[in-house]
Amino acid sequence: MRPHAGAALEVRGLEAGYGKIQVLWGIDLDVAPGEFVTVIGANGAGKTTLLRALTGLLPIRKGTASALGTPLKGRSAAAIVRGGVGHVPEGRQLFPLMTVRENLDAGADYLPHAKARAPRNRAFVYELFPRLREREFQIAGTLSGGERQMVAIGRALMSDPQLLFVDEPSLGLSPALSQAVFTALAHVNAEGTTMVLVEQNVQRSLQLADHAVVLETGEVRLRGTGAELLAHPQVKEAYLSL
Ligand SMILES: Nc1ncnc2c1ncn2[C@@H]1O[C@H](COP(=O)(O)OP(=O)(O)OP(=O)(O)O)[C@@H](O)[C@H]1O
Ligand SMILES: [Mg+2]
Repeated sequence: MRPHAGAALEVRGLEAGYGKIQVLWGIDLDVAPGEFVTVIGANGAGKTTLLRALTGLLPIRKGTASALGTPLKGRSAAAIVRGGVGHVPEGRQLFPLMTVRENLDAGADYLPHAKARAPRNRAFVYELFPRLREREFQIAGTLSGGERQMVAIGRALMSDPQLLFVDEPSLGLSPALSQAVFTALAHVNAEGTTMVLVEQNVQRSLQLADHAVVLETGEVRLRGTGAELLAHPQVKEAYLSL
């Protein structure tokens, strides 16, 4: 994909919501190319809303955001994906009647650069998640929860993103499977994809993070390196139950 200069993601004073309900109240967030950034926060803090606003699924009401050097405000979700931004949405959202392989390939649909790289990217996904290769022709609706999460991540990788947003990939997975998913995300990041991860598994996701922010009722309450936030008394008390 095209290399980009400057920040992978730059968010300033972002506000968003649903109808009369305002959820995000002026979010600032900077992500450098190649970084792994984690967003943590309680249920309802606005994490999913933030990812939806940054991927064109919800309008940005105030403030600015740009990804890979291009402003996001007013751009469609399709245009944002074409620009190199991938999204693994909350709740997986696969095509249940299509096979694993068809779901993966759908991630490259309408993206000429990604289509050209589909064989390479599919091989990469199967290397990350060997279980998906075994189940290549199984209908997605019959997969286990963990396998579905692997397909959701794999489908986003098929769009060949430079920047990837991942919303709670470990939700509902066993500790072993969560671990496999985190290892896969770390591997994708090490291969050069900038990662913005929303997680309830605070311990593991902060260990992986270069930087992290804590969202509370639609505002950034704390920010720091992953290690700083892991050691922060408020994070320990509210999220790590230590
Ligand atoms: N479509 C919607 N219409 C109205 N309100 C919504 C809608 N989606 C989310 N909200 C509200 O916006 C707030 C933030 O929700 P959001 O899904 O962003 O939280 P979250 O931090 O992702 O939480 P969780 O950890 O439970 O996934 C919540 O109060 C939620 O009820
Ligand atoms: Mg959410």
